[in-house]
Amino acid sequence: MTDRLRIAVAGLGTVGAGLVRLLQENGGQLARKCGHSIDIVAVSARDRARDRGVALGAYDWYDDPVAMAREADIDAVVELIGGAEGAARETCEAALAAGRHLVTANKALIAHRGLALAKAAESAGVVLAYEAAVAGGIPIIKALREGLAGNAIGGLYGILNGTCNYILTNMRVSGREFADVLDEAQELGYAEADPTFDVDGIDTAHKLAILTSVAFGCEINFDDIAVEGIRRVSALDIKFAEELGYRIKMLGIARRTADGVEQRVHPCMVDLDSPIAHVEGVYNAVVAQGDFIGSTVYEGRGAGAGPTASAVAADLVDIARGSRVPTFSVPVDALAAIPTVPMDRHVGAYYIRLMVVDRPGVFADIAATLRDEHVSMESILQHTRAPGEPVPVVMTTHEVEEASMMRAVERFAAFDTVVEPPCLIRIEPLAL
Ligand SMILES: NC(=O)c1ccc[n+]([C@@H]2O[C@H](COP(=O)([O-])OP(=O)(O)OC[C@H]3O[C@@H](n4cnc5c(N)ncnc54)[C@H](OP(=O)(O)O)[C@@H]3O)[C@@H](O)[C@H]2O)c1
Repeated sequence: MTDRLRIAVAGLGTVGAGLVRLLQENGGQLARKCGHSIDIVAVSARDRARDRGVALGAYDWYDDPVAMAREADIDAVVELIGGAEGAARETCEAALAAGRHLVTANKALIAHRGLALAKAAESAGVVLAYEAAVAGGIPIIKALREGLAGNAIGGLYGILNGTCNYILTNMRVSGREFADVLDEAQELGYAEADPTFDVDGIDTAHKLAILTSVAFGCEINFDDIAVEGIRRVSALDIKFAEELGYRIKMLGIARRTADGVEQRVHPCMVDLDSPIAHVEGVYNAVVAQGDFIGSTVYEGRGAGAGPTASAVAADLVDIARGSRVPTFSVPVDALAAIPTVPMDRHVGAYYIRLMVVDRPGVFADIAATLRDEHVSMESILQHTRAPGEPVPVVMTTHEVEEASMMRAVERFAAFDTVVEPPCLIRIEPLAL
């Protein structure tokens, strides 16, 4: 590196243009913090003619981000294209192969290729930084990797997807159903035209895979995460949750157990008194538990041009200052391959809602099934409806192994008195 950090920015969309604006507006401050300037030298995107709301005339333009990563006279590449494959992956691989530091906001790429990229970075003696890939502006990677370095992390959980949190918050506030609120979120730009990655939990799982690796110093293991989205959460469940003293949140959860690591993503009932219950709208939050510090809570904006550019800039400042920290907390060779605890061995409490035709014997059948599968009921709620209409029967259970609970639910689904697929939501005690 010369007396300045020369960077190339690949991708000039929401985050890329946000980063250019941040460096243009705050460049002076950043130079004082680093002892030298962070200078954009080259940029790349698909459409050169597009107005991005920032001046780009002073930078070399590349149509091909891979060529830019290889050929431009730079110290670092910032990849802000997105996607686990294609131009983003090739740009990142080319940057590391050419011995450039790499900063990315790309959670999909890190979740799927993080280990190989970290190896490449380590052997090239450069930094791979990805603060912006998890929880946008919240400096959670730095907190886990550096701030909590003195602790053994027992577990963490978080609201990691703003779209899910926005939808669940609005369903609760307005009493409307998922599909209706999703339409509105798409109109307002809070959900993508194809919302699959967000509402089906994949985006949360990408971020959880990264957090798990950083927290426990283990190899990234995206494929073994148990993932369930929010499409089946209904306005009725949200109402019942409140009645029972809970709020429904989409969480990513990672926990160390004697048998390995539990990694799961699904809607959860969380206690109304817990801090995470009050993280609403597009906000993200992460709670991490260290053996010496106890529980720590981090909250902030999880997406958007400003927060994400803020995280990318922090990585650039670290590189410019000469800070060198192992990519996933420990050097690649020291990353542990910790087994994943299968979901059917998870032990927890459950909320189950059945829509039943109110006939004599229904409750006896439900009770017999729970008894057979060794599930102990904690509470039961039933509200009357108009005669002839199916009635919601809501139960909560004591702690039980997931495999038993699932067998009971399968049996409920086969009852001819149960007219809809049963709804099951896990109740999270949130003590890690
Ligand atoms: N948006 C957020 O709030 C947010 C938050 C956290 C993390 N992230 C991550 O940040 C990354 C960027 O997200 P974004 O929202 O900024 O995406 P975006 O608005 O869709 O921007 C993507 C940029 O990549 C460029 N691009 C696409 N294919 C290209 C190619 N083959 N060659 C050169 N440039 C190419 C596009 O060029 P054109 O503009 O010319 O089409 C565009 O400028 C993703 O990994 C995303 O997951 C985003």
